[in-house]
Amino acid sequence: MNCNFVVFRTMPIIRFVREGRDVKCQFGENLREVALREGLELYGFKGKLGNCGGYGQCITCYVSVAEGQQDSLSPITDIEQTKLRGRPGNWRLACQAVVKTSAIVLTKPQSPPANVESLMDEALSKDLPK
Ligand code: FES
Repeated sequence: MNCNFVVFRTMPIIRFVREGRDVKCQFGENLREVALREGLELYGFKGKLGNCGGYGQCITCYVSVAEGQQDSLSPITDIEQTKLRGRPGNWRLACQAVVKTSAIVLTKPQSPPANVESLMDEALSKDLPK
């Protein structure tokens, strides 16, 4: 018996709060790669000078994920457990995070824009596909 199943899955959207951009991506795409593909500035000054290229070693690709949306990304890795010690619980290393479903993300949470709360409120007020 030949069973052919076609599964249609809605493409996840990453809502980049700082940049005001909704970016479609593939299920399973690396979050760092999504940001770089779209030309978004993932890195602060230190990361621009030099980063590890996505190997989880330089801790310059911080992002924070909106409260309650941590499950939109792959589980936190062992590298992140170590490298993010002492950081807020919703922070990730973009290079270690894989997109599962749509999420709202703030790049460079270590230096948030002055209006971060209003930007986040606006981002949360609009629907995201699952
Ligand atoms: S790019 Fe170096 S830790 Fe993510």
